[in-house]
Amino acid sequence: MNNTFLNMASIGDFDPLNASIPATKVEITVSFCVLYTQGMGNKEWREFGRTEVIDNTLNPDFVRKFILDYFFEERQNIRFDFRLEKALGGIPGKKCGTIIVKAEELNNCRESVMMQFCGNKLDKKDFFGKSDPFLVFYRSNEDGTFTICHKTEVVKNTLNPVWQAFKIPVRALCNGDYDRYVHDFIGEFSTSYRELSRGQSQFNVYEVVNPKKKGKKKKYLNSGTVTLLSFLVDIEVTFLDYIKGGTQINFTVAIDFTASNGHPAQPTSLHYMSPYQLNTYAMALKAVGEIIQDYDSDKMFPALGFGAKLPPDGRVSHEFALNGNPQNPYCTGIDGVMEAYYQSLKSVQLYGPTNFSPVINHVARYAASVNDGSQYFVLLIITDGVISDMAQTKESIVNAACLPMSIIIVGVGPAEFDAMVELDGDEVRISSRGRYAERDIVQFVPFRDYIDRTGNHVLSMARLAKDVLAEIPDQFLSYMRTRGIKPSPAPPPYTPPGQPLQTQI
Ligand SMILES: *[C@@H]1O[C@H](CO)[C@@H](O)[C@H](O)[C@H]1NC(C)=O
Repeated sequence: MNNTFLNMASIGDFDPLNASIPATKVEITVSFCVLYTQGMGNKEWREFGRTEVIDNTLNPDFVRKFILDYFFEERQNIRFDFRLEKALGGIPGKKCGTIIVKAEELNNCRESVMMQFCGNKLDKKDFFGKSDPFLVFYRSNEDGTFTICHKTEVVKNTLNPVWQAFKIPVRALCNGDYDRYVHDFIGEFSTSYRELSRGQSQFNVYEVVNPKKKGKKKKYLNSGTVTLLSFLVDIEVTFLDYIKGGTQINFTVAIDFTASNGHPAQPTSLHYMSPYQLNTYAMALKAVGEIIQDYDSDKMFPALGFGAKLPPDGRVSHEFALNGNPQNPYCTGIDGVMEAYYQSLKSVQLYGPTNFSPVINHVARYAASVNDGSQYFVLLIITDGVISDMAQTKESIVNAACLPMSIIIVGVGPAEFDAMVELDGDEVRISSRGRYAERDIVQFVPFRDYIDRTGNHVLSMARLAKDVLAEIPDQFLSYMRTRGIKPSPAPPPYTPPGQPLQTQI
């Protein structure tokens, strides 16, 4: 677990010194005028940009696109103001039009291309031998200058070199769709990304021309040729590709109901039942849950409790449904989980010991039945951190690391969280009986670092959510990658009613 401290406020107030790395970029096409983004700290709206003005139409199709950084772990509010000279209607009972917002991940940020070239009958340059040719690629800039973007190795003493295949990010290559052959100087040619992307064919054999020679000699044809041998585009898939392709995120919440949290009637209890304020558990649940629910496919959350004595017989349970219905432990939204949590507090007796492994195994059983990438499971455990079954928990985590599953542990209260830090596995990859976890699936967050000294207020909900969720996309991708699971193609884009898709044959 890599606890990189991500600390960028938001799109609006970008601070280059504390900039975090966005998960990807998205492109937003809007059918109207001014786009605002909201600062994370002060919630202030700032203008991000505006489209051009289009006259005389009620269906403006703006050309201007806005490119925003996308962060998985943040809710990024954006606001659109639609400006029209003409009243959009205002007739009671009449619709005033629709806006269509399209957000699309930008491809070119994550494409690379693998290319290989060879040369044929190049000019002889060295007096005693042949030539030592290499290729230099220049990207043309918008201002007409050129920037070197790749240089191949030198192939010694040949007029028919085969250069090694190389990989280059598309954005480095095709900012200006241009490459050139240069040197001490055999000749040059130009091409574009589009031409290259046709792959090996008659179109990708280039005559290498030396303009000086061409000017001097009438019979000059060329200084040899360069042939593209292969062209392979490699797209780095992202978390969003899977979500768009239909992978469902299943969040399960598990809450620690052990006696070490303090009796719910006591104000010092982390489970204090007060009509006036949220207790620590409720605060943590609300803060993290509100971000999580945006990513859960159906916003129905199975919610479990552990470490309590249940009515009617006082049996101790380490995996009980908060809503009292083991057949259907789902709660509707985070509000539903909060409600079920308060109901449980009233009916169960906090007890012990603090066993994590039953809830981990509970979710792992479901995760084990899905291995096609159609679902990914996230278990959120909220606990005071006094764990009793460390050995079993490690064993459960090592097992779960092979499954489509991540675990987020939010530690509440003042305890020493050494055991939680160990489970997080930041320093040492977690192991059990000599077996190491295949990948890192646990993220631990000490809640006290995010609340003020009175303990009643989260200093920054956004920062908490960020630190809790920042690693989920990578953990998710590490599973998909090692299992060789590719995202399914996204369903076709939404077509507004009344504008049927045209098909041309
Ligand atoms: C989500 O996971 C829980 C286990 O924590 C399970 O009860 C539930 O059936 C799962 N939901 C789906 C849609 O698979």
